[in-house]
Amino acid sequence: MSGYEDAYARWQADPDAFWEEAARGIDWIKPAEKVFDPDMDALGRWFAGATCNTCWNAVDRHVENGQGEQTALIWDSPVTGSVKRFSFAELLDEVSALAGVMQANGVAKGDRVVIYMPMVPEAVFAMLACARLGAVHSVVFGGFAAHELAVRIDDAAPRMIITASCGIETKRIVEYKPLLDEAIATATVKPEACLILQRDAHRCEMISGRDIDYAAAVAEAKASGRRADCTEVAATDPLYILYTSGTTGQPKGVVRDNGGHMVALRWTMEHHYGLQPGDTFWAASDVGWVVGHSYICYGPLLQGCATVVYEGKPVGTPDAGAFWRVIQDHKVNAMFTAPTAFRAIKKEDPAGALLADYDLSAFRTLFLAGERSDPDTIKWAQEKLNRAVIDHWWQTETGWAISGNPVGLGAFPVRLGSPGKPMPGYDVQVLDDAGQPVPPGTLGNIVVKLPLPPSCFPTLWNAPDRFMSAYFTEFPGYYATSDAGIIDEDGYVFIMARTDDIINVAGHRLSTGAMEEVIASHPDIAECAVIGVADAMKGQMPLGLYVTNAGAGRDPAELEKELVQLVRQEIGPVAAFKTALPVDRLPKTRSGKVLRGTMQKIADGEAWKMPAAIDDPEILNEITAALRAGGYATEAA
Ligand code: COA
Ligand code: AMP
Repeated sequence: MSGYEDAYARWQADPDAFWEEAARGIDWIKPAEKVFDPDMDALGRWFAGATCNTCWNAVDRHVENGQGEQTALIWDSPVTGSVKRFSFAELLDEVSALAGVMQANGVAKGDRVVIYMPMVPEAVFAMLACARLGAVHSVVFGGFAAHELAVRIDDAAPRMIITASCGIETKRIVEYKPLLDEAIATATVKPEACLILQRDAHRCEMISGRDIDYAAAVAEAKASGRRADCTEVAATDPLYILYTSGTTGQPKGVVRDNGGHMVALRWTMEHHYGLQPGDTFWAASDVGWVVGHSYICYGPLLQGCATVVYEGKPVGTPDAGAFWRVIQDHKVNAMFTAPTAFRAIKKEDPAGALLADYDLSAFRTLFLAGERSDPDTIKWAQEKLNRAVIDHWWQTETGWAISGNPVGLGAFPVRLGSPGKPMPGYDVQVLDDAGQPVPPGTLGNIVVKLPLPPSCFPTLWNAPDRFMSAYFTEFPGYYATSDAGIIDEDGYVFIMARTDDIINVAGHRLSTGAMEEVIASHPDIAECAVIGVADAMKGQMPLGLYVTNAGAGRDPAELEKELVQLVRQEIGPVAAFKTALPVDRLPKTRSGKVLRGTMQKIADGEAWKMPAAIDDPEILNEITAALRAGGYATEAA
């Protein structure tokens, strides 16, 4: 029996009572005056009037409660051949000393700190040290290049940047320092100090007066006893800003608060993921993504679980048995990754033969999210692991699952292709384009009725108007998720596609608009469109179609190389932009809107309809021919 229906009904009957009870899992300095204050800020705020500290709840209180010797963080890094364990007491030692260093360098409550780090324990220490000081961190994924880092520096205006000398990818060392220096040189806002972790794989030059050696500074703080205590912050104060792709090149700074975030995340650890204090949880993602924020750093630690920080890949570090080794070595009870990781493993080891080499007896559940879980991948994982495989759906904006299958409450039967049912807190509905509810089983816009539950973003950093216009204007009274899908007769949600220009590449959320802006900046390009085409491993891959300026006379192969390099340099390798095809014209509506959706269907060999508003239908024949020449659109619709 699943306790899901009961929990959902309890939330529906009295949301405040539901979240008030969940809030008992958190230590407050001052309790909330109102569980939910509908009049505070644009959309109301959770735990108004309460004060707290997120680092206290994630670290100190476990030490205080006698769990100091218990493992808090396990760093497993096949790319450096290292494994390190930190108990909660050791974590407290690292974080309070680092916070002491930051404080001595002027970082105080409310200041922003950009963290640009690979998957090392110091990345998590840095997040927690910010939380300890009441400073607001903004983690930037290491796969983003200098320009993207600069955009985030200018928006967040950090007092300090914490970074490392390098990241380590399977086949190359990623030197962070040149990217950092270029980003600071081009940004308008200049941080006062950069705290730099020197790694053995590559040591970087330091700039005197600006750069501080992380290890030396922390060692000195420990030796001199310069540690920072937890700062009291309002539950509604920001804990972090996480930039995520929007429809333009300007990313959206999703703001997370302290109080609601802790309450929701701890609740999910127990009830959704089914983990108790002392268990080990592993989210094989990166601290640069929301999954890393919620389930590498905060969620497990708030629940007193050990978290695994993995610096490696599902394949190639060294082989497709890497995940099984980590599960075995650290007795992982539940893990979370994107389906693409399992597709990569399945491609290298289709029979799952490597599983036989490892003892997975501690392992209970595999959770998948970040992109659509195709039924084949779920079936393969179910069969090979002989464990529950749970798909759940969420977004950077929410910080935790909108729909899922709560293992802690008792899972309900999995329906392949569906990331479960709405979680308590979310009244999920499907509306047509006119804002009217559609019958069960009908495709439409997935929306969530306001108010959103704790942890969901209260605003966008520096962009309160964009917050309202991007999410709350199209369907008044609802949060527009920008996902299209259906809810079936039994309440299962199915997520089918984005309704905007976001694509999902290997579980990474990317803006085609941002790529178009970069391509259009090339002097030989007149106009361009980037679409996401189906890819067997990564789910989607970006594909550029461009028109050159008259008389440019460029060789397409050469121009493609330049465009690929430009996107890599401006956005970063994570964009995975590899293909650009020349076309004579782009198909548009009579009002000039590029018909990206139709081109995507043609490229994927799906059935498509001639758009009624098309300016010149002949262009679609030209596009089909160009796509075929590039190896796409192979199955004619
Ligand atoms: N720093 C610098 N570069 C990075 C990076 C980082 N943190 N992460 C990825 N990149 C680079 C990769 O090296 C690759 O560069 P290349 O073009 O020189 O080969 C490029 O960005 C594209 O990366 P990715 O799309 O991840 O492809 P991949 O071939 O390196 O790996 C997978 C494919 C499936 C193994 C990988 O995407 C993966 O492990 N995914 C797991 C899911 C996941 O983490 N999802 C995140 C949200 S839950
Ligand atoms: P991000 O904000 O990076 O977490 O990306 C959120 C987007 O990823 C969602 O809007 C969906 O389009 C997609 N997504 C995340 N999880 C799932 C899932 N389980 N099934 C389908 N799509 C998903």
